[in-house]
Amino acid sequence: MTSTFVTAGPFAGQKPGTSGLRKKTAQFRAPHYLECFVQAIFDAVGASGKVLVLGGDGRFFGREAAGIILRMAAANGVARVIVAQGGLLSTPAASHLIRLNGADGGIVLSASHNPGGEDGDFGVKYNISNGGPAPESVTAAIHAASERLTGYRISDQPAPDLDRIGETDLDGMAVQIVDPVLDYAELMERLFDFDAIRAMIAGGFTLRFDAMCAVTGPYAVEILERRLGAAPGSVVNAVPLPDFGGMHPDPNPTWASDLYERLMSETGPDFGAASDGDGDRNMILGRGAYVNPSDSLAVLAAHAHLAPGYAGGIKGIARSMPTSTAADRVAEALGIEAHETPTGWKFFGNLLDAGRATICGEESFGTGSDHVREKDGLWAVLLWLNVLAATGQGVSDLLGAHWRRFGRTFYSRHDYEALPVPQAEAAMSQLRGALDTLPGKTIAGMKVAAADDFAYVDPVDGSVSKGQGLRVIFANGARIVLRLSGTGTEGATLRLYLELHSDDPETFGADPQDMLAPVIAAAEELAGIARHTGRIAPDVIT
Ligand code: G1P
Ligand code: ZN
Repeated sequence: MTSTFVTAGPFAGQKPGTSGLRKKTAQFRAPHYLECFVQAIFDAVGASGKVLVLGGDGRFFGREAAGIILRMAAANGVARVIVAQGGLLSTPAASHLIRLNGADGGIVLSASHNPGGEDGDFGVKYNISNGGPAPESVTAAIHAASERLTGYRISDQPAPDLDRIGETDLDGMAVQIVDPVLDYAELMERLFDFDAIRAMIAGGFTLRFDAMCAVTGPYAVEILERRLGAAPGSVVNAVPLPDFGGMHPDPNPTWASDLYERLMSETGPDFGAASDGDGDRNMILGRGAYVNPSDSLAVLAAHAHLAPGYAGGIKGIARSMPTSTAADRVAEALGIEAHETPTGWKFFGNLLDAGRATICGEESFGTGSDHVREKDGLWAVLLWLNVLAATGQGVSDLLGAHWRRFGRTFYSRHDYEALPVPQAEAAMSQLRGALDTLPGKTIAGMKVAAADDFAYVDPVDGSVSKGQGLRVIFANGARIVLRLSGTGTEGATLRLYLELHSDDPETFGADPQDMLAPVIAAAEELAGIARHTGRIAPDVIT
């Protein structure tokens, strides 16, 4: 072994959050920065004799970072690293590879839906052996290790060529370079009825998948075009680029506006979908129909049994607290458990491991199941296609039928981005300070039934997470949630979540923003966002 101990540190970086450590690319490229964080991971979770998975979403600096991490892994005594060819590994595929190989963990190089490039964002995320994001105890240990470290170990040998599939040796460590798509595509073939989807497509069903120049391109081309027979070119922006072609790879009507406009047109394809930088998010569209992510979770949960992988029925549904209650109605109808967790996929991990939830979702375009321990964009696309093939219905018909059965939960999220921190805090503290006085009061014509600062007790391990968002529930079933983003990279981002349920079919065609007008008015009265921030409208509405 020929390695060097480079003296550096203590690590000046900040604590890794839910999604690992996310910073400007320039910060990660600064001398010793990436190295110190990676050494902190190895110090905290142990490296000697371990098997790790490594890959990322193809963004700028990813390949270089992978080389550095391989050399550090070798120097720290890691036994084997399974690396995706070209370093291209979607987050759900990474989760699957960890589980499939019984690896001890994995490192994913991504800043998810945040723009990439020299001036963009970069990120490093550690996943544990169940394939899911590191829980708080592990991220805290990594942070503690980062403050203690005095330097890092790195092999003097060069990293191997990441494009050549096969096994090589790096300073005594096995480097196994694998096809990133193959195992994932096989898993999807086991879960879904590919024959039925193929027949639907052969029968003239058209689709468009926008990979947004990010990691899902190769996966979508292989699965949708090659295996399911969608016309060549159905997958657009299919080649991952280091700067995502200048796109903001976040699948929502704002950032995937080209796809959105096409699907809203009468001449558009039958089905449209997009995924984000690292492939864990999804947006679902039908011709003339936008599927709100909260509705998508409810519809998928209600129909999952139509897919072979879920033919035995689902055990439970879990949603993050700000996600609409539409899925709860499905759980009730199915007679299964409904769980309400704090924001962040890691809170689903215990429920999935314990078999208490099969399908999970977040309003932020995240849906997934117990097949991996991350949300999974292409999985959601394939389950939708499977359900459409099995029912013979189009997206908007299926959505309409769902609402007629369960009622429609009108829902919207308003984001106020890059706010000065004191302004965002002022809105939060106005509402927080009033929570106890609200029950029984009438706000904007609606009576408050309950109000609290959401705290979660994990039903599996009993751990408690407090301060997870302010919520106000009205007697008519309307709901307001206000919380600060934990993933923004500039200033503070306030997220306001608005919800109103209706059982009246006459209302089902209404614009959510119109239906939610009284709820929006109540939110302004309660938190004074416009007053505190001077913003007259949100930056992003989903
Ligand atoms: C956002 C989403 C949240 C998601 C997270 C990681 O976090 O709202 O649902 O789990 O990104 O993708 P936030 O910025 O709201 O803290
Ligand atoms: Zn993502």
